[in-house]
Amino acid sequence: MDVQKKRILTGDRTTGRLHLGHYVGSLKSRVELQDEYDTFILLADIQALTTHFENPQLLYTSIFDVTIDNLSVGLDPHKVTIVQQSAVKAIAEMTVFYSMLVSVNALRHNPTIKTEAKQYGYSEMSYGFLGYPVSQAADITFCNAHLVPVGEDQLPHIELSRKIVRKFNEMYGTNIVEPQAKLSSVSRLAGLDGNAKMGKSLGNAIYLSDSAKEVEQKVRMAVTDPARVTIDIPGTPEICNVGKYHKIFTVDQCDDIWERCRTAKIGCVACKKILTNSLNTLLDPMRERRAYYESHRDEVKDIIVTGTKKASEIGDAQVATMREAMHLAI
Ligand code: TRP
Repeated sequence: MDVQKKRILTGDRTTGRLHLGHYVGSLKSRVELQDEYDTFILLADIQALTTHFENPQLLYTSIFDVTIDNLSVGLDPHKVTIVQQSAVKAIAEMTVFYSMLVSVNALRHNPTIKTEAKQYGYSEMSYGFLGYPVSQAADITFCNAHLVPVGEDQLPHIELSRKIVRKFNEMYGTNIVEPQAKLSSVSRLAGLDGNAKMGKSLGNAIYLSDSAKEVEQKVRMAVTDPARVTIDIPGTPEICNVGKYHKIFTVDQCDDIWERCRTAKIGCVACKKILTNSLNTLLDPMRERRAYYESHRDEVKDIIVTGTKKASEIGDAQVATMREAMHLAI
């Protein structure tokens, strides 16, 4: 490993397979940056517990599914470190230390916490759920990560991590790295159903593991410009879900497609066919890599175990430094 390289840490909750929203929001940059940065990918199973503690089987399966999703997009297991969050004790210890520096009010007013609490129907939020941004600060800083590639919903959490680090360093004279968020150019992908966000729990996701046929069916069901009732009515691609997807997934031909939509020279069916094609062209190489890892599950497990061991050593050293600085080391 090149010690000169700066570090990336980012991750995903292990609550199911990853979808195109994860891809454009974070996975794509992970792949692009894996040579330049020493990259850590966290399988956030503790964070998954905050909402799915009653479903341990899903969490267990997802640890493998999320790893395979990450490998399928082209992350190289020889370059990146894949880490199981719950097995890194330093993260739990640091969460406790950090929790003293964060007010309950700051957590209650965190916009992402608010949105999620509503989404999950939490009238009575658990202590663990309310506190997950604190644990996320520990995720990011156990290895002194510099950069965190995430979607825009994660910005409040990165901001909190920075505040915690500043406070901790000031108070105890440590040198924990203050992390920076890296937003991708598409930091939020809308659902093809017109929902502002693609999400597993919203039932509108196109999964990286979907077959070509499934992608075709999902695109066929997409809601398009509602004013375009018949094919001879000109469309407004900028308000059309499929139009917006072309801008992301059919970059080369997008201007042309939009022009043909505006002048009623292409209908929604044909337009959707092009999108299906673009998505499947993107997903095909992922499907190939996935097939390999699906049939080499022992290798996948080894990748997780090796990465977690390495992360634990790094985390233990970080905690030792912190304990020393806090005058807890006797
Ligand atoms: N909160 C992130 C999500 O919901 C997952 C996550 C957990 C994460 N720990 C992290 C992301 C650390 C970046 C860095 O997708």
